[in-house]
Amino acid sequence: MDDLKNKVAIITGAARGIGAATAKLLAEHGASVVIADINLDAAIATANEFIENGYDAMAVDVDITSEHSINSMVSKTVEKYGKIDILVNNAGIVDATPIHDMGLSDWDRVIDTNLRGTHLCSQAVIKEMIKNKSGKIVNIASMAGQVGGLKVGPNYSAAKAGIICLAKSYARYGAQYGITVNAVSPGFIETEMTKGRDDPKSVPLGRLGTPEDVAKAVYFLASSLSDYITGTTIDVNGGLLMR
Ligand SMILES: NC(=O)c1ccc[n+]([C@@H]2O[C@H](COP(=O)([O-])OP(=O)(O)OC[C@H]3O[C@@H](n4cnc5c(N)ncnc54)[C@H](O)[C@@H]3O)[C@@H](O)[C@H]2O)c1
Repeated sequence: MDDLKNKVAIITGAARGIGAATAKLLAEHGASVVIADINLDAAIATANEFIENGYDAMAVDVDITSEHSINSMVSKTVEKYGKIDILVNNAGIVDATPIHDMGLSDWDRVIDTNLRGTHLCSQAVIKEMIKNKSGKIVNIASMAGQVGGLKVGPNYSAAKAGIICLAKSYARYGAQYGITVNAVSPGFIETEMTKGRDDPKSVPLGRLGTPEDVAKAVYFLASSLSDYITGTTIDVNGGLLMR
């Protein structure tokens, strides 16, 4: 379980939910994890819990809509650990504003966080990864980015579709430096973001997903198990999307 020993991983939005479960799994595999979140108090609480369990973790406050804040997250990580091996672009917000009510501010808020934020974090971190000629970036997309959103607005689904394509663009660029970039696309996962929203009976496997279900796919893409895999998307949806 120490295959990620000496690896340094930044997980954005890791104070809770899918991000926290992912950070925990990477830490269990030996990685030093940076719990990066806009909610610093919650990030500190999560990092402290990991440290109490014997893992190496550091909380960092970041707002992924701000380039300045992202640069500071990268410098704090490099200052402490000297490098970045893994980036999980997990931070995101959801919005269910229907199309006919959607104002520009709703559109911008979700696109700026979910799509532009993922690009800005990837751009800042890939520059560090290029120095070491290795790295793994995983974007947390969504099934809404593959089939459109009914329960979520078009801003959310378009941003998530963009994240899938961002992974491919970064994968094409990163390949020459030994950097792989992929996406994980969750279906209905039970977290604070979606509490009480989804019906388990609508899922072929008969249950909602857990943050740990998503974390396992992220771990695979962040580890050497996936060294020959880049520019792809793994669906974690209990069979909701069969094509
Ligand atoms: N839960 C689901 O069913 C589901 C399905 C598909 C995709 N996703 C995606 O998975 C990711 C995690 O979702 P979750 O359900 O764990 O959500 P969550 O709301 O429980 O956690 C999101 C975390 O991101 C942080 N965050 C929000 N805005 C930020 C910003 N600007 N900068 C830094 N951090 C910020 C929040 O503080 C929070 O800790 C999101 O990208 C979400 O879109 C979730």
